[in-house]
Order: sequence, then structure tokens, then C-alpha cells
Amino acid sequence: MAKILVTGAAGFIGSNLVERLLDLKNVVIGVDNFDPFYSRDIKQQNLQGLLRHPGFSFYEFDLGEAGNIETITEPIDIVVHLAGKAGVRPSIDDPNGYIKANITATNNILEWMQKRNIKKLVFASSSSVYGNNKKVPFEETDLVDNPISPYAFTKKACELLNHVYHSLYKMDIINLRFFTVYGPRQRPDLAIHKFVKMIDNNIPLTVYGDGSTARDYTFVEDTVSGIISSIEFVSRNINVFEVVNLGNSTPVKLLDLINHIYTIMDKEPQIEYLPMQPGDVDITYASIDKATKLINYNPQTPIEAGLKKFVEWYRSHKK
Ligand SMILES: NC(=O)c1ccc[n+]([C@@H]2O[C@H](COP(=O)([O-])OP(=O)(O)OC[C@H]3O[C@@H](n4cnc5c(N)ncnc54)[C@H](O)[C@@H]3O)[C@@H](O)[C@H]2O)c1
Repeated sequence: MAKILVTGAAGFIGSNLVERLLDLKNVVIGVDNFDPFYSRDIKQQNLQGLLRHPGFSFYEFDLGEAGNIETITEPIDIVVHLAGKAGVRPSIDDPNGYIKANITATNNILEWMQKRNIKKLVFASSSSVYGNNKKVPFEETDLVDNPISPYAFTKKACELLNHVYHSLYKMDIINLRFFTVYGPRQRPDLAIHKFVKMIDNNIPLTVYGDGSTARDYTFVEDTVSGIISSIEFVSRNINVFEVVNLGNSTPVKLLDLINHIYTIMDKEPQIEYLPMQPGDVDITYASIDKATKLINYNPQTPIEAGLKKFVEWYRSHKK
């Protein structure tokens, strides 16, 4: 049993992680500011069951404001920092907001950790740092100096910032690069959630580009398993600084994804095509060799099975 601080606990990945950590008998402290990127109601619903659990306590504040995190005074063994503004396209309109919520917030956490002598951190980075990498699959050793969105820049900047604190204060840190995570509680701005909602309402789908772009969709339960293995790894080792891909290593073309969803929902495809959006990349494709070796990561969920679970969740939660 460990005392784990999870930032972004009310969000999609955060709430799924907290649930599993509590099942595993950990004590969890959650932080979230209910960032208006999507509705507070959804995030409150994510937290509903968790707030009744005796092993969970929750703080609402903005990690981007220095000092707020000082209100947490209880002992903490490890921090899992998932909070942040997500989303590639919105970051183009609000680079400053992303710099504050992602980079400044991460710096505030790292400063607080070093003052409190908390040495263990798992950080949510992103496949976006690979930009338009032509070499697939993406490996952690690939050059990631060419971000193509403010969001990607902030995630890479945080990885670098984490290295500073590893080097200066001997913090043990794993930066996890998530690849398009989907599943129950998925953010409403993400493609799978949007598509399912539109299909359910008989609205034709809007596809940016010709549908040949591909994503390494990763089911949230697999991502959560990878985060938990990372927590265990970072807890029992010293002198750790790692960057690790957490993907599914099976890219799925957009049109194939859409056809799977139409089939699962038993509806006739209706698709409208629009030009590619700025900031979008052609493909994401994780090499997971390092994750497999280092933390025994082994994603279990093929796309059809994960989509079925998402559609079931969507149908039982839609208002
Ligand atoms: N979902 C994905 O496919 C994906 C892919 C790559 C990386 N990530 C990263 O994983 C993390 C979790 O993503 P998610 O999909 O669960 O997103 P999410 O938006 O559902 O969760 C993030 C949470 O952080 C909170 N937050 C934002 N700014 C904050 C601040 N300043 N102070 C306190 N809380 C704040 C939000 O309110 C939200 O609840 C993010 O850092 C995201 O960038 C996600």
C-alpha cells in the first residue's frame, strides 16, 4: 500500500487510474481544478463513486498557481502527474493557457516535491512529441525536437524539466508517452467519443483528410496497467529517469476505425470529408519494446473489443 497523489484525478485517465489504485488498496489523494476544457459535470460524474471511498481524498485547485499545492501537507510516497490541458487543435488557439496548465503547473509540482523530499514521479507525456516522425514505429530514442503544436511543445518541455529535477535532486521519474487513449469516460472532444455520439444521433461523420491517417489507439485499461507498473518500477528503484511509450503498437486507419464503429452500432455509414487540420500528424505508432522490457507492459485490448466496451459505456451513460 502506498500514498499516491494523482493530479488530474477528475479527468478521463485520472479517474480510471484512481479507481484501480483504490481497488489495489492504495491511499489516493486527488487534485483537479475542473478545467473548463470540457464540462465540470462530466468530471464530477467521473469522481462520484471515488468520493465515497474511504481511501480517497480530493482537493480542488489550479496547479498552475504557485502555492496552491502547498495546502497538501500529508505524507506522499509518489506523484502521478496527469493534470494538464490536453488536445492538439485547441492548443493552437491558446498557447499561453497550455504553457501555464502544463509547464508552469509541472514546475510548481516539482518544486513542491523537492521541498517536501518526495522523490518519485510518473508523468503523463504524449505521442504528440514525435511530431510528423516519418520513421515508424516511434521509439523513445527518436529525435523529438520538431513539435508541430503548442501542446506537443509543452509535453516535451515538461520531459526536459523533469530531467532537471532528476539531475539536481535525484528524483526518480518515468515520463510515459500515451498514444490516443480511449475507453469509458473518454473525453468528449476525442474522435471516438465524438463519432459514437454523432452516429447515435444519425449525424453524418466529418472526417478531416481522406481517412488514411492512422492512430495507435490504446484502451484505457491497458494505459492504466502501464501507469501502475510504472509506479511499481519507480517505487522500487533508484536513479531512474526514463521515457517510455505506452501505446498499442497497432495503428488503425481512420476509415477502418469508423467502419468498426458503424458495425458495432449497427448503422449505415454516412461520411463527409473536410481538409486535414493544422497540427494533425499522419500516423502515430508506438514501439513498445522498451515498455515490455522495463515494466512488463503488455496491452491486451484489440480495437474491436475496446470499441465495443466504449459503445456499451456510452449507451449506459448518455443523457
Ligand atoms: N487521452 C489521451 O489520448 C492522451 C494522450 C496523450 C497524453 N495525454 C495526457 O494524459 C493526461 C490525462 O489526459 P486525459 O485524456 O485524461 O485528459 P482530461 O482532460 O480528461 O484530464 C486532465 C485533467 O487535468 C485537469 N487539469 C487541467 N489543468 C489543471 C490545472 N491547472 N490544475 C489542476 N488540474 C488541472 C482537468 O480538469 C482534467 O480533469 C493529460 O496530461 C494529457 O495531456 C492524454
